[in-house]
Amino acid sequence: MAHMTTSAPVFADAAAYVQAVEDASKAAAAYYSGGTSALDDDSYDRLVRAIAAFEAEHPEQVLPDSPTGKVAGGAVQGDVPHTAAMLSLDNVFTPEEFTTWTASVARRIGREVTRWNVQPKLDGLAIAARYTDGRLTRLVTRGDGTAGEDVSHAIGTIEGLPGRLTEPVTLEVRGEVLMTNDQFEHANTVRTAHGGAPFANPRNAAAGTLRAKDRAYTVPMTFFAYGLLPLPDTAADAAEHLATLPHGDLLQYAADLGVRTPADTQVPGVTLDGVEDVLARVEEIAAVRAELPFGIDGIVVKADLAADQQAAGSGSRAPRWAIAFKLPAVEKITKLVGVEWNVGRTGIIAPRAVLEPVDIDGSTVTYATLHNPSDITRRDLRLGDQVMVYKAGDIIPRIEAPVAHLRTGDEQPIVFPEVCPQCGSAIDASEQRWRCERGRDCHLVASLSYAAGRDQLDIEGLGASRVVQLVDAGLVADIADLFALTRDQLLGLERMGETSTDNLLAAIEAAKSQPLSRVLCALGVRGTGRSMSRRIARHFATMDHIRSADANAMQQVGGIGTEKAPVIVAELAELAPVIEKLIASGVNMSEPGATPPAPDDQADSDDAADAGRQAGPLDGMTVVVTGAMTGPLEQLSRNEMNELIERAGGKSSSSVSKRTSLVVAGEGAGSKRAKAETLGVRLATPDEFAELVSALLA
Ligand code: IVH
Repeated sequence: MAHMTTSAPVFADAAAYVQAVEDASKAAAAYYSGGTSALDDDSYDRLVRAIAAFEAEHPEQVLPDSPTGKVAGGAVQGDVPHTAAMLSLDNVFTPEEFTTWTASVARRIGREVTRWNVQPKLDGLAIAARYTDGRLTRLVTRGDGTAGEDVSHAIGTIEGLPGRLTEPVTLEVRGEVLMTNDQFEHANTVRTAHGGAPFANPRNAAAGTLRAKDRAYTVPMTFFAYGLLPLPDTAADAAEHLATLPHGDLLQYAADLGVRTPADTQVPGVTLDGVEDVLARVEEIAAVRAELPFGIDGIVVKADLAADQQAAGSGSRAPRWAIAFKLPAVEKITKLVGVEWNVGRTGIIAPRAVLEPVDIDGSTVTYATLHNPSDITRRDLRLGDQVMVYKAGDIIPRIEAPVAHLRTGDEQPIVFPEVCPQCGSAIDASEQRWRCERGRDCHLVASLSYAAGRDQLDIEGLGASRVVQLVDAGLVADIADLFALTRDQLLGLERMGETSTDNLLAAIEAAKSQPLSRVLCALGVRGTGRSMSRRIARHFATMDHIRSADANAMQQVGGIGTEKAPVIVAELAELAPVIEKLIASGVNMSEPGATPPAPDDQADSDDAADAGRQAGPLDGMTVVVTGAMTGPLEQLSRNEMNELIERAGGKSSSSVSKRTSLVVAGEGAGSKRAKAETLGVRLATPDEFAELVSALLA
């Protein structure tokens, strides 16, 4: 896990300090009121650390409104007093800082903390929900920590915060209101459709939505509880009960009352004994961060027992029994400087955002995905916009939204291509993803290079530059033409000697015996990649069976639904002349080890495929491979590992979930291994796995 290491600025003089306090206060006010600050989280944290460093050196110059001393940093004055202050949390950024902090708690209470509760730090905003006799009567924002704004109008729009509890109790639930990634996308679609400016990120969207009254539309948000406390009207015995429950039990009680807690997410709160276990859990949560359906900006570690909490007590700003282990910022604001339109091997025209380079979580981000033209329109993106960019773990960076309030008026509309940027032909814009009308013929070099690639036909010596030569010389117009190349034709090309020619011809000859799954994949059927091609080939066993399948039969293959099936069938019909040529050249058209489905086989896809097949060592198992393979598996690419899994009767998958049966974790395995551990999924080393499938390796 990367920890924050960026150094804080050093102030030249007191004036710079004063300016910094002002900037930080403005940013904090925007943060707590749902506005968008010009500072992203990372910059804000750095500024506050610099302010604290200056204050330590110059205690006589500390300003009263410094963000280091304030309760909760908020500037919004609300009119509903909180019954108990809504505190903030102190932060640590490294395991060392965390360990130091735990030692300071132990010193304060005169013993080690008995056990810890570790939970995600949800990236939304704090809210107090008051329940009277089991009914939700009032919602109050944190405000400045002592009083907040009444936002009861939002009752009924927040999932996880029921209007009625399962028991008629009087108490206050505290927790975080946020938008999941899906809710955020939905909110911005609805908002821009109503002429509003998009929200920059889910947190802003939740804050803005929570406070907005009288909107023409409502968009859902989500609540997760992290605390329960008595209200003045709570019965004395119930209040006493709440005050003595360990934190884990308190949240379980909240869940029993019908309130959502992180318990049913991928990152439930857990109770742990020692600092080492806590740090391991911090790593685990950090590892799955990018895959969570909602944003987290850290991990909260709390003393679990009420007795430990009481002994540690609270300061005016934060409790002394809890800490936020902050994760590096995964969001930055940068400028959208351009949009590139790239044509892929199947003729899909995909936009890509070009950004002013920005450092996020240890890597420089210059490009971000934009899925299709309507994605641009929906997000209301303009050239020159300051945009919020999100990048965590291995995921491809994405633009969350433009930061609308930073617009200068000079932003320009993004121009969509009118003709194919590759070949100038017309564009088929009838679907969300635009496509060149020439389809896979448009970018012949891309489609042939892909076909010749290691995981498809594996034709060594046929790299992109050689493909360009062949295409330029007019020798190939589709993949079948590769098999008709003659020695003389190849010798006629520049930089093509006798040896390279013979090697290339031998590689092409060898490619004729690739399994059907690879041949199919090389054809570049829209909607099928490597894994889907393997499923189709294993299901139908021969090209003849594939080609005689109608949409209905195609849907018997796992993962092919009503939308995809007709596209695949149509694509195969379109490819008929190429397939005929391949057959005529002697290219293999069957899948080793697979048996075709029985003629009247309408049963569920995978069962149907299983029925005619011999049992393998991985029957019925879903297997994920991660990290570097060693030992007997060292030479296998990821694709070859997946092929092996499927030959052994298993299903290969790239993501770990509760349904995963086995994770093969090699050297350098990171988040997937951590996730398997969290979910209790069985792990195997490459050697153990090789042993398991040894019959197929021979
Ligand atoms: S406990 C007395 N637990 O983080 C302890 N806070 O930076 C108060 N937050 O104001 C908070 N997830 O809005 C707690 N699991 C969690 C949290 C959490 C997010 C927020 C909360 C708090 C802020 C402090």
